[in-house]
Amino acid sequence: MSKTNEPDRVFIFDTTLRDGEQSPGASMNLNEKLRISEVLEEMGVDIIEAGFPIASKGDFEAVREIAKRVKKSTVCGLSRATRPDIERCAEALRAAERPRIHTFISTSALHMKHKLQMEPDQVHEAVIASVTLARNFTDDVEWSCEDGSRTDHDFMCRCVETAIDCGATTVNIPDTVGYAVPDEYASLIQMLFDRVPNIDKARISVHCHNDLGLAVANSLAAVVAGARQVECTVNGLGERAGNAAMEEIVMALRTRQDHIPYVTGVRTEDIMKASRLVSAITGFLVQPNKAIVGANAFAHEAGIHQDGVLKHAGTYEIMTPESVGLTKSNIVLGKHSGRHAFRRRLGELGYELGDNAIEDAFRRFKDLADKKKEIFNEDIVALVDDSVGHADHRVRLVALEVLCGTKHRPPKAELELEIDGEVKRCKATGDGPVDAAFNAIKQLFPHDANLQLFQVHAVTEGTDAQAEVSVRLEEKGKTTNGLGADTDTMVASVKAYISALNKLVVKREKTEPPALSA
Ligand code: KIV
Ligand code: ZN
Repeated sequence: MSKTNEPDRVFIFDTTLRDGEQSPGASMNLNEKLRISEVLEEMGVDIIEAGFPIASKGDFEAVREIAKRVKKSTVCGLSRATRPDIERCAEALRAAERPRIHTFISTSALHMKHKLQMEPDQVHEAVIASVTLARNFTDDVEWSCEDGSRTDHDFMCRCVETAIDCGATTVNIPDTVGYAVPDEYASLIQMLFDRVPNIDKARISVHCHNDLGLAVANSLAAVVAGARQVECTVNGLGERAGNAAMEEIVMALRTRQDHIPYVTGVRTEDIMKASRLVSAITGFLVQPNKAIVGANAFAHEAGIHQDGVLKHAGTYEIMTPESVGLTKSNIVLGKHSGRHAFRRRLGELGYELGDNAIEDAFRRFKDLADKKKEIFNEDIVALVDDSVGHADHRVRLVALEVLCGTKHRPPKAELELEIDGEVKRCKATGDGPVDAAFNAIKQLFPHDANLQLFQVHAVTEGTDAQAEVSVRLEEKGKTTNGLGADTDTMVASVKAYISALNKLVVKREKTEPPALSA
């Protein structure tokens, strides 16, 4: 199928909500997942991997709700090669217009021996049983050989042929541990086309991890070798060093049509919107020099470059900022800007908010404009993202006052929080103002989480710039990230801490079955 049917089309399989959520700290709640799936569907992602239904009640519900709402994209659920996994996955996908069951099992000698403790023949039997069972529920079944890039070629050919014979319509060859290099990985895909007799009956897919920073290069090399589905995530989120970044795959294919002549169905103008949303929801800041979506990706610092770009953008820009959804107009808004201008700017920045959300954002924009003379696009993004998905939070900030300075008095914080609808107050001291404020949160909402990361960055320039703070909390091996933005660094810090805490509360309820790995 890959080499004959729609030869130029590469299908984009987004796994931000599944593999992406497996990034330490990147947990998302149901509303957040729904919001991301909406954006992915709108931008033309072909397949959305919505979760791993057997992993937890939350994962099951997320897949079920996304399956109900998403109509244009295929909705996929992950399952191991067992009956309970596949049945649970099928149940979660029941309402989907286009359901896909994705079942996987490890095929490398290392994984079979040490992880599965199964003989190759037993794994082969499991391939038959799992794909056959999955096909009872849907015609769209994807089979993956976990640790594919380290699998013996003869055994891989045998399993791939069997999976296709049993009805797999997509066969995915993961580089699970990010070990492959581009020419080797392309040869592996080519080897399958050369040796598996029924290969034309399935679409070949790739799923690359980024441990050596080669996930995108490996995926593109595989496309050239015949793969027609790329599994990827927004901002390259994912296990360990992450997965291939969707924005990089899509923009490489768009920009280098001359050399890699394949197309995707993704509306690239929505890339920034998706990137910002995922960053705001997960609390994972995008590094400034990140390709495509980093703050500096289209910034020209050197005078010689600026001069060139002003004369002709093509001198130093290989793609336009507009093509990824960055608008050139950064005309500042201020306290006299009205609702209309604000709404229009939100639209230009890619936010489609409901009337209530716009009203809420406008109120906060006015508050910000009282504190800060000029409001830049970055401020508006931080302001909107700061409120994403906060509706169901148990803990909310009501008021904060902090005392610090050079005198030998311990810094003091007075904090008011709303916890499960009840307003509580306290005073606390600490080694510094941030410590005092965080101690106050602990007093009002006792918990054992450790602070693993506290990072502050200024959204724009100037002393009145908003601070964006990122906090990571860890409790019994579970980690969550929170982001907070405000012109007051202390307020931003408390918001970020509370955001991570709210996620941790949800994560505590998530129990995973033993030896669950993907
Ligand atoms: O990395 C991996 O092998 C996976 C599979 C489940 C596709 O995530
Ligand atoms: Zn993976």
